[in-house]
Amino acid sequence: MKLFDVYPLFDIVPVSGNGCYITDDQGVEYLDLYGGHAVISVGHSHPEYVGKISDQLKRIGFYSNSVQNPLQEELALKLGELSGYPDYALFFCNSGAEANENALKLASFHTGKDRIVAFDKAFHGRTSAAVAVTDNPKIISPLNDSVKRTLLPLNDAEKLEAVLKQSDVAAVIVEGIQGVGGCIVPDPAFLQAASALCKQYGALLIVDEIQSGYGRSGKFFAHQYAAIRPDIISVAKGMGNGFPIGGILISPELKPWSGMLGTTFGGNYLACAAGIAVLDIMKKEHLVENALETGGYLFSKLSLIPQIKALRGKGLMIGIEFDFPVAQIRKQLLFDEKIFTGVTGSNVIRVLPPLTLTKAQCDVFVNALVKLLNKL
Ligand SMILES: Cc1ncc(COP(=O)(O)O)c(C=O)c1O
Repeated sequence: MKLFDVYPLFDIVPVSGNGCYITDDQGVEYLDLYGGHAVISVGHSHPEYVGKISDQLKRIGFYSNSVQNPLQEELALKLGELSGYPDYALFFCNSGAEANENALKLASFHTGKDRIVAFDKAFHGRTSAAVAVTDNPKIISPLNDSVKRTLLPLNDAEKLEAVLKQSDVAAVIVEGIQGVGGCIVPDPAFLQAASALCKQYGALLIVDEIQSGYGRSGKFFAHQYAAIRPDIISVAKGMGNGFPIGGILISPELKPWSGMLGTTFGGNYLACAAGIAVLDIMKKEHLVENALETGGYLFSKLSLIPQIKALRGKGLMIGIEFDFPVAQIRKQLLFDEKIFTGVTGSNVIRVLPPLTLTKAQCDVFVNALVKLLNKL
């Protein structure tokens, strides 16, 4: 059997990882500024993380959600405390798309309505409702097309109000920072207006923090820069540092009936062990603070490079836009400079490293980038 062709593959085979580095099967070490697509939060193979999952596996790896699981309680407690949402309820699932799928379903149940407002350049995943509210017609099949959605320009509160007035809107879904769209930070004033308008017109505000959350932006959630409290927050990626886990944080004002949402694997023992280790390490090593500090340092260094057309993002989620395609530079960064970066669209390099990144590692990247740009 051959593999389904999902993404174009780079010709490297990572076999081990350590902190901000991965090593391939030839023994070559790469500085990982991509984090496996914003997934690695506390660093590769962190000993405490490895220990916690291994110990759990030795005891029990899985049982279904029909029994008490104290690890779920512990994770919910710690997430509530670190995120600033101790009063919210946590529903577990296994991925980002699934988190949004459940968020959208819950919003529709709660409001009894069926239209979703999303924004230009949004990416919310590839399952049915999540893909329907994603701004990429290429990956929306006729089956997904039955979801009623309205796509609006980001940051346009007037247009949002005009649609909310139609009264069939169950939810507005917006990324804390648009990741796939190119690290586009929503205007805080717009998020505040969206939050107020949703309340006024009886729609729910869902903030997708799957990529921008878990400390990456320099706050636990990126929407906290706007000081809003969404009705539902979706999380995944950095939550498990590579172990598949996702979830939605649900406002105490929503009262989903028991059994409205369900899952076999969500919140399993290993995933929870991973999730708890991530939060413990984040707290102990002050990783949210490091994302702010080191991200700010990197941003200021990058802003001195004249060839860069635009710099966007917050903390350790940075989009570097050029007025030329970046595929070649990304390849050179990887194969010549041994630095792994992400891209989005054709012209934007995306930096999504582990939150343990140091300023010295930022310097290595900036110097390599300047060297390559000066050769163009
Ligand atoms: C903002 C956002 N939402 C949802 C998803 C989907 O997550 P997953 O691939 O885990 O389903 C992604 C993935 O890149 C994302 O960036």
